Amino acid sequence: MLRIGSLSLETPLLLAPIAGHCDLAFRILCREQGGVGLASTDLLNSRAILNGSARTLELAATNDFDSPCGMQLYGNDQDPLPEAACWAIDHGAKLIDINMGCPVDKVAKKHGGSLLLRDCASTQRLTERIVEAVRKHSGDRVPVTAKMRLGWDREHFVAPKLARDLEQIGIQAVTVHGRWTVQFFSGKADWDRIGEVVAAVGSIPVIGNGDVTEPQHALDLMRITGCAGVMVGRGALRTPWIFRQAFEMMKLGSSSTPDSVFEPSFLYKCQMIRRHIELLTEHSPCERHALHTMRSRIAWYSKTMGPIKPLKEAIRTATTLTEMVVAIEEWIEIAKNRAGPLGLPEASMSQ
Ligand SMILES: Cc1cc2nc3c(=O)[nH]c(=O)nc-3n(C[C@H](O)[C@H](O)[C@H](O)COP(=O)(O)O)c2cc1C
Repeated sequence: MLRIGSLSLETPLLLAPIAGHCDLAFRILCREQGGVGLASTDLLNSRAILNGSARTLELAATNDFDSPCGMQLYGNDQDPLPEAACWAIDHGAKLIDINMGCPVDKVAKKHGGSLLLRDCASTQRLTERIVEAVRKHSGDRVPVTAKMRLGWDREHFVAPKLARDLEQIGIQAVTVHGRWTVQFFSGKADWDRIGEVVAAVGSIPVIGNGDVTEPQHALDLMRITGCAGVMVGRGALRTPWIFRQAFEMMKLGSSSTPDSVFEPSFLYKCQMIRRHIELLTEHSPCERHALHTMRSRIAWYSKTMGPIKPLKEAIRTATTLTEMVVAIEEWIEIAKNRAGPLGLPEASMSQ
């Protein structure tokens, strides 16, 4: 459905890296829901990888249930990104993505991220070094991609030219988040400008990103911009099944949500939360971390679940993962009595 260099993705839908959210447990959860063609690690500091920083190695963790997995690196021309990319390939990366969009001061003031949009010549040199190293190390097996914003601000719409120049250097796909760096994450993503990047590149796929919060939006973004794939960020935190729904609609060629497109029940959502707790138990560095993660995630999930204040409270105040499981099990029982036995798809429970 979407080819990036030598990598064939089963669907053109990608889970966005979202630092602090799209960890291994969440990536597996989204994949289990269906429809995810590719998911990536959150941004990884190249020096921290090579220094063996425990936290960064945790962030880089992947496994067979998380395949194909991209690893996203950030840094600038002075950083050992080519070496870190080779490390990533040796540790399971099926694609290397270069972060050219992070607006956060810690990254964009000196290290990289959106800073790379300000000096396109040095970004090209950096990219050339990474592409060359990855080509040699993987024997052309692992594609290198870039994820960028439109530009630093409205006066600097660099994405079309930069994407075209990077294609000539050997980048095999570009993801465009349709915002300016100065916007951070607010305001609307400008899909028309994403379309201008699509028009500017030669033959590599452009992946559109920004404000896809309903399955229909993924189809709209492809239609409006001509992009070959769609990356979903915050929409997936709220509805991790959005990929499956969007993919079903793509297969049906539908312009509105047909009845046959899976719509999760309340019971399904409760079971999915339990599954997320299970995955966190398995893949978090410690129980405290898992508890902290689920406390922040319940607010996202609750957005589509109606009045569940007691469940939110129980998740928020649980002091162990066992307590969390007990709380969600109670709600699963309530939901079963209320809604009939529509559970998770079988594939989700197969691990
Ligand atoms: C809290 C947060 C953390 C993010 N971390 C990353 C990151 O590590 N790497 C990256 O390329 N983009 C990161 N992003 C940007 C997203 O990948 C995505 O481009 C952006 O949220 C727009 O897509 P959306 O409207 O679907 O959320 C982050 C966004 C948010 C809100």
